[in-house]
Amino acid sequence: MARKKVTVVGAGNVGATTAHWLAAAELADIVLTDIVEGIPQGKSLDLYEATPIIGSNVHVTGTNDYEATANSDLVVITAGLARKPGMSRDDLLKKNYDVIAATVKQVVAHSPNSILILVTNPLDAMAQAAFKLSGFSRNRVIGMAGVLDSARFAAFIAEELKVSVENVQAFVLGGHGDTMVPLPRFTTVAGIPITELLDAAEIERLVQRTRDGGAEIVKYLKTGSAYYAPSAAVVEMAEAILKDKKKILPCAAYLQGEYGIDGLFVGVPCKLGARGIEDVIEVRLSESERAALQKSAAAVRELVAAIGL
Ligand code: NAI
Ligand code: 2OP
Repeated sequence: MARKKVTVVGAGNVGATTAHWLAAAELADIVLTDIVEGIPQGKSLDLYEATPIIGSNVHVTGTNDYEATANSDLVVITAGLARKPGMSRDDLLKKNYDVIAATVKQVVAHSPNSILILVTNPLDAMAQAAFKLSGFSRNRVIGMAGVLDSARFAAFIAEELKVSVENVQAFVLGGHGDTMVPLPRFTTVAGIPITELLDAAEIERLVQRTRDGGAEIVKYLKTGSAYYAPSAAVVEMAEAILKDKKKILPCAAYLQGEYGIDGLFVGVPCKLGARGIEDVIEVRLSESERAALQKSAAAVRELVAAIGL
């Protein structure tokens, strides 16, 4: 069977680290592309030279144009600017819209049958832009945020309870922003809801740290934002698609009435398989959870309106 092909657009921190995790997991041949000359070529050659050591039979190529990306099965778009200290995800809106418009046009021309995973911020609005600009069906345009936000929540819970991270199943809905909706009721440790294990104040502290998770890293790094956990999140999604796992993961998906939201990308649990988003899973929310999700969707809608989508 021929190996799958994944293009990663943007060879910066998230893009290059995504390529790294993809190669380590031996998931596909990888093409890394960026507008900066030499960076994708240098990073991909370096990564390819690591493959004999890690025992991974994949090819890694770097390029500044899209010829070598042709007929990719999956395209991960990380191109754009990252947040600087004091800058919100939303400040990035207009600059990154232009980047998405330019890159999506090339991706559609060269890989018309691909599935897109968007990473560029502000995530939900950029996913919406890619969806509208690509003309792809909604199952083929997916935003990465929920896996990252849930992983952060899970990591904080595991640390607090001194249990294995593998015991924690965290559940975060909504847009990737200050209004994201961590759901303690659906967050479990070895099947036990955290509401049985932590008091309300402890949970609220971990929920707030999750909401601030991106900013916490920016504050330390000063010149950029998180990339290890974000790229690991992308690769969990990529693996579910490339291996047709039917894995349920929180992703930004274009909703058409689910959760009472229509015509908008918002984070919800999705079943990922060979066709991309194969199902949106609806769970019954309480009044307050539903209100929080609607508030988060309204924040996404504002951004989407600001770029005329
Ligand atoms: P970075 O600055 O390290 O890399 C971005 C790369 O994009 C640079 O190498 C740049 O040259 C390239 N680029 C810019 N315009 C391009 C174009 N037209 N075509 C191809 N490449 C282009 O930034 P980093 O840390 O990799 O972050 C990338 C994006 O991902 C940012 O918007 C960031 O906010 C977002 N992000 C989103 C997360 C999420 O949860 N959805 C998590 C982490 C980052
Ligand atoms: C994060 O949450 C920057 O959105 C990115 O780390």
